[in-house]
Amino acid sequence: MADRSSLRRLRFELNGQWREATVEPQVLLADFIRNHLGLKGTRKSCEVQICGACTVLVNGRPVSSCMTPAFEIDNKSVMTIEGLAQGDNLHPIQQAFWQEGGLECGYCTSGMILTAYALLGENPDPSEEEIKHCLSGNICRCTGYVPIIAAIKRAAYLMRSDATAILSLPKSDEQRVDGPAKIRGEAIYTADLVRPGMLYGKILRSPLPHAIIKNIDATAAEKLPGVVTVLTRDDLRDINPYFGPLVKDQAILALDRVRYEGDPVAAVAAVSEEIAAEALGLIHVAYEELKPLLSIDEALADDAPKIHEVTREHGEKFPGYPSVDEETKKYRNVSFHFGWNKGDIAQGLAESHRVFDNCFYFSKVAHYSLEPHMVLAEWRDETVTLWSSTQHPFLVQQEIAEMFGIAKENVRIIVPYVGGAYGNKNHTKLEPLATALSRKARRPVYLSLSTEDTFRTVSKPAMRVRIKTGVSQDGVLIARESVVHVDGGAYSDAGPRVTQKAGYRVHGPYRIPNIKSDAYTVYTNTVPAGAFRGMGTPQVVWAYESQMDMIADELGLDPVEFRLKNLLERGDDFSPGDTPLDCDLKEGLRRVAREIGWGEPLEPDCGIGVSCALKDGGGNYKISEARIEIDGQGKVTLFEGTVEIGQGSNTALRKIAAQELGLAAEKIELAPLDTSHTPFDFGTYASSGTTVMGLAVQRAAQAVKTQLIDGARSLTGRHDASFELHNGLLRVGEIAVSFQEVVRHVKGAIGTMIGEGRYESIRDKNLLLGAKAPFWEVSWGAAKVKVDRVTGEIKILKFVTIADAGKAINPQQCHSQEIGAMVQGIGQAFFEQTLYENGIMLNPGLINYRVPGVYDLPDELVTILFENGNGPGPYGVKGIGESGLLTVPSAIGNALFSAAGVRLSELPLTPEKVWRSLHQGYFNQ
Ligand code: FES
Repeated sequence: MADRSSLRRLRFELNGQWREATVEPQVLLADFIRNHLGLKGTRKSCEVQICGACTVLVNGRPVSSCMTPAFEIDNKSVMTIEGLAQGDNLHPIQQAFWQEGGLECGYCTSGMILTAYALLGENPDPSEEEIKHCLSGNICRCTGYVPIIAAIKRAAYLMRSDATAILSLPKSDEQRVDGPAKIRGEAIYTADLVRPGMLYGKILRSPLPHAIIKNIDATAAEKLPGVVTVLTRDDLRDINPYFGPLVKDQAILALDRVRYEGDPVAAVAAVSEEIAAEALGLIHVAYEELKPLLSIDEALADDAPKIHEVTREHGEKFPGYPSVDEETKKYRNVSFHFGWNKGDIAQGLAESHRVFDNCFYFSKVAHYSLEPHMVLAEWRDETVTLWSSTQHPFLVQQEIAEMFGIAKENVRIIVPYVGGAYGNKNHTKLEPLATALSRKARRPVYLSLSTEDTFRTVSKPAMRVRIKTGVSQDGVLIARESVVHVDGGAYSDAGPRVTQKAGYRVHGPYRIPNIKSDAYTVYTNTVPAGAFRGMGTPQVVWAYESQMDMIADELGLDPVEFRLKNLLERGDDFSPGDTPLDCDLKEGLRRVAREIGWGEPLEPDCGIGVSCALKDGGGNYKISEARIEIDGQGKVTLFEGTVEIGQGSNTALRKIAAQELGLAAEKIELAPLDTSHTPFDFGTYASSGTTVMGLAVQRAAQAVKTQLIDGARSLTGRHDASFELHNGLLRVGEIAVSFQEVVRHVKGAIGTMIGEGRYESIRDKNLLLGAKAPFWEVSWGAAKVKVDRVTGEIKILKFVTIADAGKAINPQQCHSQEIGAMVQGIGQAFFEQTLYENGIMLNPGLINYRVPGVYDLPDELVTILFENGNGPGPYGVKGIGESGLLTVPSAIGNALFSAAGVRLSELPLTPEKVWRSLHQGYFNQ
């Protein structure tokens, strides 16, 4: 608590109104705005003045409020996102962001809009270059910036057209239904919640990558005024402390030893974040250091110590996860193996004209969603309520119940808006720790990670992929043998599932009669690895599509023609019994080649490359349920459990319900996601929302529609009439009755008409993955690059990406998803990589870890959606969104070879690596 004499008295203009306040000198402006002024639209993310999410305007200039002392606003004006709209009327910039789809998860949106506001105040007609310059201090991890640039151009136009115009809410079939809340800064995320008596949690993490915990002394921390409780391993003895979606190998806090730098060792709940952080420094932990295993090879060595002596398995409780097989137990530090064979690999390789044997490496990558992991837990009388930023609310509910020995019904998970995920919020993460803290403190506890600690929570796994491919003299693939090693980090998390998917998909979209695939999850003393957009697919695509070009080059074949010769045809089996291929791969490859200018002359140092990939989409073991209720006032409410992480599911699913019921999407209310009333859904992953949950929603809507029509026939006495639904009415000829009248007629004034829908995967234990893929998610990518031979830098002149959407429910959102994924792929191709030295991560957070900014966009970008109605979802929908990322690194790698004759097998393709490869001859002299 600050001494009163140090308090600073402020007078400032906030969104047009003068205010006064006192503030402690160390309080930052973002915290002052959020916590003291209660304006939650200002978001905190990187906290190092790089991402721009916390941007506000001070005297009209954009300022990073996360690094600005609050007292600096004295006698100044401050504008936050809440100051833009006037009542129901949006500011033209907000309107433009909504119209152009310049937002997804919404976590960057306040900062983006205010930055644009400052720009347009100074320059009413900015060029694209000026817009990019203005956005260079703002990160968006979702949209790929293109719709944001378009939004600013539109805003400039709107503002120039009528400088005083405050336009009313626009209506468009494409606009996101969550747009208004996000562009106004009114969307509620977990960080915005406050409960009476709420405490703040902080985690003490291991400074060592591998060590035995000899002793923990929390006495001094417990005595610090304001500390309510300190949680250590001793507090976990009466519960099952282990969690994990397949292998239960991660404890809430390290019990006997720490297995990576950042492993949680203790946690504090205190009345403020500052006190909780101070208390961490008073906890003394005595360690006995062990040798860390930091690479796949170190961990697999015969004499390597075991990182886990014992692991605990889930068995059947989490359907969809394969069991741990005998092959797993053959190796040191392997937690999971997946293998499959087709034909006779030995014979196939023996009969091949040439055999190509290559090894590729994909580095460990951080997700960096702008919203870090956060959860608010409230334990009361053997029940717990968790507000969590999670993609898997129902699985978290089940796991918490099992760990704490309480009934599942006594665990309630509520999911506010989620500020981006891309896989990092899959499965259980912070929820058990927050629950344990709240249980001990007997008060609600809010636990939020810094960006640095989010980097230390989960990663995209590094992967080593060795592929041996046998080819006939005329370029027909005969055999492919692959071995995938997934660096799973210290705990399994979703690593086994990633491994399974990588091992399943590693032979690519090709007809190969002889296949052998083995994939292993390997424990190392690094951050646990989990799911990331594509679930292991970008890593194996990097390998097999690089090798396809290498083979073509060796055989003197055109890379496109070589692929066309070998691609699967529509209706072919990818593996025996799985869903036959549901698209035309050759059509896509020809199109992407045409769009990139395949065969056209190239400038010096320029090159082009293509790539083609597919993954089983939609989740193999998906169960999704939905319910639609129409009450006596005619209000329609949709209950469904897909988490809106920015992908636009709230909009797409409401549009599906609306289409079936003849309503505008905004007439469908979406109930908050709360396990106490939301029907079950397995989780938000695998591009499944619009297709799989879409089917459940469509079926629920059709069920309630049938009841409405039956009711209308009964009400009107027109028992054979074919009623049509439009705009809240059921019509036949001149007769029209409202939803309200029909519901009241059938259910009474306080009754509710309910329609339910369900999707469940077709399971078959004889199939390799235990169930059929709902659909095939396909990606075609092509890059045109120019290589700077002096610096080794690669510039993308043009990138083309094609996705097979089946039917785009919201085309604008589909394009944005594809562009966002593509830009993530650029980051992973060029610079994203977490680096370690002696087991210590060198670059957690945005100071030393670079994510793509607006200047990393290709000069020209083309996204194409195929809409052939070939998907199993409503109206022919298939899932997309992961697809945009799959082919990016390999297309760029192939273009690099085309431009400069440089073939790199290890990502990222840094200028240094390219330069060294280009100048290898110089070094060899
Ligand atoms: Fe920009 Fe999610 S919309 S980070």
